[in-house]
Amino acid sequence: MTSLNSIDEVQQALAAQNYVCGRPLATVVFLSLRLGRPLFLEGEAGVGKTEIAKALAAALGRRLIRLQCYEGLDAGSAVYEWNFAEQMIAIRTAEASGGADREALKAELFTEDYLIARPLLEAMRPQPGGAPVLLIDELDRTDEPFEAFLLEALGDFQVTIPELGTIAAPEPPIVILTSNRTREVHDALKRRCLYHWVDYPSFDRELEILHARAPEAAETLSREIVAFVQKLRTEDLFKKPGVAETIDWAKCLLALDVMTISPEVIADTLGAILKYQDDIARLQGAEATRLLQEVRAELAPA
Ligand SMILES: Nc1ncnc2c1ncn2[C@@H]1O[C@H](COP(=O)(O)OP(=O)(O)OP(=O)(O)O)[C@@H](O)[C@H]1O
Ligand SMILES: [Mg+2]
Repeated sequence: MTSLNSIDEVQQALAAQNYVCGRPLATVVFLSLRLGRPLFLEGEAGVGKTEIAKALAAALGRRLIRLQCYEGLDAGSAVYEWNFAEQMIAIRTAEASGGADREALKAELFTEDYLIARPLLEAMRPQPGGAPVLLIDELDRTDEPFEAFLLEALGDFQVTIPELGTIAAPEPPIVILTSNRTREVHDALKRRCLYHWVDYPSFDRELEILHARAPEAAETLSREIVAFVQKLRTEDLFKKPGVAETIDWAKCLLALDVMTISPEVIADTLGAILKYQDDIARLQGAEATRLLQEVRAELAPA
């Protein structure tokens, strides 16, 4: 089983998974592993919050279990459910074969065979390779009752199923929670976690990410792409492009055999970086040309 014993090791192991991680983030990941505390990551869309859980699981050789949050998510869908369809079939079969003993049937219907484990229960079961990485993604999309429930679940890592008893994790999972901060997550939950705000990367770091994720892109083009996206982020846009958009745009430009960015290329491919018509309309024409000129001036050797 792999373990990461220093901040440098965390950084290197993530880099081996093509995840570029600055020292502050590597530090909080290391501490979260060392102290066994959940890691709460907040940040804009597409800055690598979800990806870090995937990269960490791969780096540690652990299973990744993901709980995708959404409005209305309840404990049933997060922990376990009984397989009603299978239970009904079992009842019908028993009836057809002459009616089984009611108590025996009931006992049989509430066994592991009829249990559907959802992510939280799954994360508490023993896994080959050690405790899994449990990603609780986009927590801000759920509502407060679920958050309160989660607070408890993260506290003791055990689940009580009335018909089966208590299932406790042999070793607590490595927990990563993410939020896009569409609403504030409750203090009580935050207090349990180590916190890190994942910001947009600097020019150098984003270039490094692009090298890792789109290595086919030539150096000059990569620099132009990153500089232009960084410039866009300083504009007053409804939705600023994330790192995901930078990578997508690079892939689009590669697919079109573009060697260097021009206002025409920008106009044709803006949909890869901006996803709102108002933002796209703002950036079309003269504005794109102006930004590109600024970018060129910045990139030019002094
Ligand atoms: N630091 C990084 N190193 C390598 N790749 C990165 C990094 N940050 C982002 N990426 C790339 O950007 C993509 C989007 O990242 P991810 O899905 O993790 O964003 P997110 O913060 O979870 O966004 P959202 O809030 O929209 O869910 C990833 O698939 C990955 O390719
Ligand atoms: Mg995400």
